Amino acid sequence: MSARRPEIIDTVAAMQRRAVEWRAAGQRIGLVPTMGYLHEGHLALVRGAREACDRLVVSIFVNPTQFSPTEDLSSYPRDLERDLDLCASEGVDVVYSPSADEMYPEGAQTFVTVTEVSGPLCGVSRPTHFRGVATVCAKLFHAVMPHVAVFGEKDFQQLQVIRTMVRDLDFDLEIVGRPTVREPDGLAMSSRNVYLDEEQREQALCLSRALDAAERIAAAGERDVGAIVAGARAEIEAADLARIDYVELRDAETLQDIAALERPGVLALAVFFGKTRLIDNRVLLP
Ligand code: PAJ
Repeated sequence: MSARRPEIIDTVAAMQRRAVEWRAAGQRIGLVPTMGYLHEGHLALVRGAREACDRLVVSIFVNPTQFSPTEDLSSYPRDLERDLDLCASEGVDVVYSPSADEMYPEGAQTFVTVTEVSGPLCGVSRPTHFRGVATVCAKLFHAVMPHVAVFGEKDFQQLQVIRTMVRDLDFDLEIVGRPTVREPDGLAMSSRNVYLDEEQREQALCLSRALDAAERIAAAGERDVGAIVAGARAEIEAADLARIDYVELRDAETLQDIAALERPGVLALAVFFGKTRLIDNRVLLP
């Protein structure tokens, strides 16, 4: 690969020095936060961000505070060398990849909790997850000082949590959401897809089928949330390896419960295949 390798920065202080320098030179800083093991979904965010800024930072940090003790922190896939090559070919200026000790030195005890938006959906089965996400993003924003940070709509609730935190805590940056990138057969790209065996991978198509079904039912004029959700659930229940965590249709902005689709709603779902938990969503318009 001929592209120039990005600079690797692994301490908060060095990242802040670089950010201050860039800001003093009048440059607009973009940030794409990731946990690495980059795929086309991440790269679409990187390309979107590249256009919106002068200096682009990709953070690669597998954040321990967003995993519960029973989740896949230690087995989460990692390949920093490959990630650096991909970042080089996308013109990334800096890869910010601090260690866990750098991010959370002994004695760290401060967390950011976005109370309401973190509660439903993934918040039910992962009660401390969004606290970890909000906290690490706050720290990344303080280190990188971005003017714009780009997130995927694939993690719809995460995006709403971050937007809410930025609004409520007066962070001076723009949050941009980008559409979900899918495999040719419709499965949303995810670093966790590598955990799926062949049969699970095939059946995982029930997620996008469920979203299609919900969209069809809503487009045919159905407003009743129960009826739309039932149509989506039926697609997942037809896959015998799938175990539903949740299938819900909620208000797309507040994620509050709704009975009828009268404003934009989000059909969000989480489904287990063995130990692998996949999520997906689609915004439905009345
Ligand atoms: P990670 O799962 O690595 O995802 C990093 C970013 O890529 C997130 O904004 C996510 O929504 C986006 N993304 C993942 N798959 C995508 C796809 N198929 N299409 C479009 N975007 C996609 O999300 C996290 O990391 C972490 O929670 C993080 C925000 C970095 C905080 O630790």
